[in-house]
Amino acid sequence: MIVKKKTFSLIFWAILIVLSAYYFYSAIEYRFFEEGIGPTFWNKQFWFVSHILAGILPLVTGPFQFWSWFRKHHIKWHRLLGKLYIIGCLFGGFSALYLGITQPYDGSIVPTLFLATLWLFMTISAWITIKRKQVEAHRLFMIRSYTLTLAFVFLRLLYDLVYKLNFLSFIANEEVRDATYEWISWVAPVLIVEFFISWLPLVKSDGRRKKVRTE
Ligand code: HEM
Repeated sequence: MIVKKKTFSLIFWAILIVLSAYYFYSAIEYRFFEEGIGPTFWNKQFWFVSHILAGILPLVTGPFQFWSWFRKHHIKWHRLLGKLYIIGCLFGGFSALYLGITQPYDGSIVPTLFLATLWLFMTISAWITIKRKQVEAHRLFMIRSYTLTLAFVFLRLLYDLVYKLNFLSFIANEEVRDATYEWISWVAPVLIVEFFISWLPLVKSDGRRKKVRTE
């Protein structure tokens, strides 16, 4: 059972890392080598570039932070990489708020604002809780924060599903279709994660207090 859990976890993380690397690489290639920054972000280049650069930090450091062996043997590194992760999320989140408000696609404004606000909230909450030594709360908020970090990856994955594999083809209006998959890109992962970390444990619990995690 433990072996199965470990194998599952390895496959799960391998898929997440490969998808993150692939979509980050294709976003950089598209924006900086193929298409260029384009008219939408041309006069907001500072915000746009700092948003991308800031986003690299949580994307790269995230997987190390969830690796229990790494935390156990290198807690100093966990603290240092954790700070870089938080700095990346703060810059990434605030620049996303600005880019979200000023973008020309009406249907994208509300999902982007909710996404950026929640990302900031989950990350800051994880920071506050670890400062108070509440390790379990810190772990849960970081799972939520990292899920929102990955919204960037899920958004591009959905774009491919919509435009290459006809996902959501029953929605004829292109703007409605785009707004729908933008919402799905982070609402669905957040709900799935909440199912596993909040709802299912409550349904399974027998009412007695569980051992609280300390590492
Ligand atoms: C993206 C994921 C994560 C990030 C960015 C992160 C970030 C951080 C940061 C910045 C600190 C240092 C706080 C300080 O300066 O006092 C820290 C400490 C810590 N974190 Fe995380 N963390 C993450 C995931 C986790 C997970 C999944 C656990 C598992 C329980 C965990 C357990 C701890 C522990 C035990 C400490 C040390 C607390 C102490 O010094 O007493 N972290 N983390």
